[in-house]
Amino acid sequence: MVKICCIGAGYVGGPTMAVIALKCPSIEVAVVDISVSRITAWNSDQLPIYEPGLDGVVKQCRGKNLFFSTDVEKHVSEADIVFVSVNTPTKTRGLGAGKAADLTYWESAARMIADVSKSDKIVVEKSTVPVKTAEAIEKILTHNSKGIKFQILSNPEFLAEGTAIQDLLKPDRVLIGGRETPEGQKAIQALKDVYAHWVPEDRILTTNLWSAELSKLAANAFLAQRISSVNAMSALCEATGADVTQVSYAVGTDTRIGPKFLNASVGFGGSCFQKDILNLVYICECNGLPEVAEYWKQVIKVNDYQKNRFVNRVVSSMFNTVSNKKIAILGFAFKKDTGDTRETPAIDVCKGLLGDKARLSIYDPQVTEDQIQRDLTMNKFDWDHPIHLQPMSPSTVKQVSMVWDAYSATKDAHGICILTEWDEFKTLDYKKIYDNMQKPAFVFDGRNIVNAEKLREIGFIVYSIGKPLDPWLKDMPAVA
Ligand code: NAI
Repeated sequence: MVKICCIGAGYVGGPTMAVIALKCPSIEVAVVDISVSRITAWNSDQLPIYEPGLDGVVKQCRGKNLFFSTDVEKHVSEADIVFVSVNTPTKTRGLGAGKAADLTYWESAARMIADVSKSDKIVVEKSTVPVKTAEAIEKILTHNSKGIKFQILSNPEFLAEGTAIQDLLKPDRVLIGGRETPEGQKAIQALKDVYAHWVPEDRILTTNLWSAELSKLAANAFLAQRISSVNAMSALCEATGADVTQVSYAVGTDTRIGPKFLNASVGFGGSCFQKDILNLVYICECNGLPEVAEYWKQVIKVNDYQKNRFVNRVVSSMFNTVSNKKIAILGFAFKKDTGDTRETPAIDVCKGLLGDKARLSIYDPQVTEDQIQRDLTMNKFDWDHPIHLQPMSPSTVKQVSMVWDAYSATKDAHGICILTEWDEFKTLDYKKIYDNMQKPAFVFDGRNIVNAEKLREIGFIVYSIGKPLDPWLKDMPAVA
């Protein structure tokens, strides 16, 4: 029986391995992690991450051919194929701080693999890593190998949180990069055989190692760039009276451009986009390509601009101060159908409003109070470390309270900021909400999900990103 072990039981390792176990009953899959709490949760009824469909897949396979364990060394030593899906945070100190990927966790995983291995193995990069990481990993493994042979493959993950299970069951493509030697090709074939259990042959792409590593960074940069492009347009729409939804529809119907990923919003978030672009920028700089680096940097700058612009809209509309005003924050996760708050635009928006002394009442159906306090007190980039190694601020933000429904969040509030596009925010009883708010009552829709006209009829002053401005907002300064 082929044995697979995945180091790192996170948002990628957990769902990916669960789907491999589901589709390959003849393969034994062990997912291991140094975090005891994560593994305990994977073995319980309350999985550590929320992802539609994940519960069912895990329940079907757990204990049969899918195991979650903290016994990292045992499972690695027994495996034929070892996936590595550990954190790759942005460096906060030393060379490349603020941009380069910190490969501490990767390196320690590689050294451990070399230490405990007693048989030849295929080691698969599942984490997103800088180009040429495989070379470094290869060196660590071969210099410590005691005669054991390792083949390194790059198999970046393209799943999107919120739709991870669907993406894994029906991937647009699976990408496998390996050495162009006979041994490398044999390793590629072995991994191809795993995916071939359910992925059509023509969707399994094989490349050299460096193309696979770079394709992942490039794909995320392209996706983020689309969002920044439409967000840049949203500012121009507000200034000219155009409607960004109409513009993006008109643009997206061009088959060369396509309609996806063209929704204007308060900004992109998630653990990958910013980190991967910073990483790409750093690689460009290291390779003497400052113009290319500058080009990609701009994608992040526009994202920051969009978040600032939103905060400025809120503050300027409310008579240039939100000091001591209650603002309801609807949604904190970086997008709907996930509880993930990593790099969510809500963090910067909340920090911006708190900087102007607002009181915040936050509701998100999937995010806990503890998580929100952590996010609002943690330093930039500190979130991307195993949970038990994350530096914690001893303080909590007192002007922030968390509630368990939208009606409590908005009661007596002066304004509402919609920061995640949860479906339930579309169908709230906004008349009831309006009646319980301070007047004038404001809605700032950072995701363009409410019907602004209906809300205006009720009496709200409404700001929708990239849409023709409410007369109230027309004379207010909007520029960040
Ligand atoms: P995560 O933080 O949810 O999971 C990483 C896990 O690795 C943690 O549970 C941590 O405790 C564990 N870990 C770290 N060092 C370890 C070690 N030496 N031994 C055993 N376990 C160790 O991160 P996530 O989101 O799963 O991301 C993993 C990688 O995949 C990152 O490189 C990320 O950029 C990439 N990625 C993430 C995607 C996403 O949507 N979250 C999508 C595609 C790629």
